[in-house]
Amino acid sequence: MMRQYSSLLLGLFILHVVSSKSISTKVVEVKVICKEAPNPSYCLNLLNSKPGRVKGVDLVNLAEYTIDVLNDNWTNTFNLLNKLIQSAENDTVTNYYYRCSLDLFNLDSVSSRLGDVQLNLELGKYSAMAKDSADIMQYLLECIDSLHKHETSPLLAKYVDDLRQGDQVLQIIIKYLNL
Ligand SMILES: *[C@@H]1O[C@H](CO)[C@@H](O)[C@H](O)[C@H]1NC(C)=O
Ligand SMILES: *[C@@H]1O[C@H](CO)[C@@H](O)[C@H](O)[C@H]1NC(C)=O
Repeated sequence: MMRQYSSLLLGLFILHVVSSKSISTKVVEVKVICKEAPNPSYCLNLLNSKPGRVKGVDLVNLAEYTIDVLNDNWTNTFNLLNKLIQSAENDTVTNYYYRCSLDLFNLDSVSSRLGDVQLNLELGKYSAMAKDSADIMQYLLECIDSLHKHETSPLLAKYVDDLRQGDQVLQIIIKYLNL
């Protein structure tokens, strides 16, 4: 009798934990998020590539995953830009790349804001994340503008555009986190 009673209590306790957890996590379906993206198919490809993903993963997980993707994209861009700078024909060409390397890697740049946005996610500071992702967009647009003006590497332009689209996806997720 006693044992049945305590297992009933345990069951109620678990029920309580499960239900309070589902209240505190926000779930928005990937297709709802991606409908708001300027390029829905890029967004779907990004969020559906999440390993072990189930339909309607909660927003914090999606934000975490999108930041991981942005970090990988950033690393690839960093490596490509360094290669381009090393093999540039002359100083003029090197200087074209230099604008982007400031925007992407400097103290105040995409790289530092990616660190900030990750930290603010862990702290649950979602409104600060909105500012971080807006800063990331600003740096990327400066770099993209410089690449367009100087017609440098099309591959680099594509890499930076991947970062821009990834940041757009992150901004939509952050918008829902702040609702
Ligand atoms: C950025 O990440 C996305 C999603 O994983 C991938 O499809 C794309 O090729 C990556 N781009 C770069 C430049 O790494
Ligand atoms: C530098 O290289 C670019 C691309 O090959 C060329 O168009 C430009 O004239 C060169 N500039 C100088 C100063 O040599």
